[in-house]
Amino acid sequence: MAHEPAAAAGIASVDDLRRLARARLPGPVWDYVTGGAGEERTVRANRDAFRRLTLLPRVLVDVAARDPRTTVLGTGVAAPVGIAPTSYQSLAHPDGELATARAAGSRGLLDVVSVFSSVSLEDVAGAATGPLWFQLYCLRDRGVTRELVQRAAAAGYRALVLGVDLPVIGYRDRDIRNRFQLPPSVAPVNLPADVAPGGSVLDELNRALVDPALTWRDVEWIREISPLPLVVKGIVAADDADRAARIGADAVLVSNHGGRQLDGAPASITALPDVVSAVADRCEVYLDSGVRRGTDVLAAVARGARMAFVGRPVMWGLAAGGEDGVRAALDLYLTELDLAMAVCGCPDVPSIGPHLLGPTDPPG
Ligand code: FNR
Repeated sequence: MAHEPAAAAGIASVDDLRRLARARLPGPVWDYVTGGAGEERTVRANRDAFRRLTLLPRVLVDVAARDPRTTVLGTGVAAPVGIAPTSYQSLAHPDGELATARAAGSRGLLDVVSVFSSVSLEDVAGAATGPLWFQLYCLRDRGVTRELVQRAAAAGYRALVLGVDLPVIGYRDRDIRNRFQLPPSVAPVNLPADVAPGGSVLDELNRALVDPALTWRDVEWIREISPLPLVVKGIVAADDADRAARIGADAVLVSNHGGRQLDGAPASITALPDVVSAVADRCEVYLDSGVRRGTDVLAAVARGARMAFVGRPVMWGLAAGGEDGVRAALDLYLTELDLAMAVCGCPDVPSIGPHLLGPTDPPG
């Protein structure tokens, strides 16, 4: 799918890109990218919950000119959809995070780069033409954690997205079954070799890096040492969101990690309204997990999210066609969102609100 728009390549939806990716990726990589924890109930719930939402369109509003632009933490972006951090993007395409950053920049969209990127955070910043945020876990080695914060700030990342939902790596049946390992060409290059010891078995790598003893005090420590605005990622409970707001987070990202951590966690879109009420405008609220259509972005914004992030679809786009594939994924969201805004009677983002939420069908 080189250099042709998605529609010209016969791609109508993110699901079409998913099918292309599945055909191209080795089985264990496909499973790592697409799978989730346990029986994948939460992976399915993330989609099912969006499917149960309905939207009540308003007619006869002048939508001849539509403006999907918005701001996040003061940064202007082309639309309220952004790229969630996903690790080791070179698993999907050799250009990895460079391709993603270029595609995001070409569409004026926000890209969040994972601490476990397979291209150094400085090289990604060098390739980017749009805004970048850096996603960090507070690692066992606090010295390395501090250095990563400083490097991200020095490289021009505009916010720090602290993942708080990974005290341990989730129980992922597929990866266990596959004994999933990183290929020799893919590594956590942001980390010094002695902190990320040679092992390429992902589970071992994560156990060496990730700290299960983290508490809110560590979030406060990050807040203190970081010159960047702080986004707390991986919250689903309203009381946790309240705590994050109280310690001065600039935003919370409602996320169940795409169903990869706790099987049985509620869908993010289901958890969102209680978080929005708990935060009560003290900070911005975003959402990820299961956002696959422009109408999902619109529904998330109508439910109170300032931005919806997408994870797997970017990996599928990368696998399907590198930078062009990611652009195809982003264009699907942009086109679908634009048309959804038009048929809902929303000429701009501020006009998207709870009045659009229709009756919700019972689960079934
Ligand atoms: C992730 N996610 C993730 N999150 C994070 O904070 N740091 C990371 O390194 C990763 N790595 C990662 C790898 C892969 C392959 C996936 C699929 C996901 C979670 C990610 O940021 C996001 O929360 C979910 O992907 C959102 O759900 P969807 O859009 O994939 O359904």
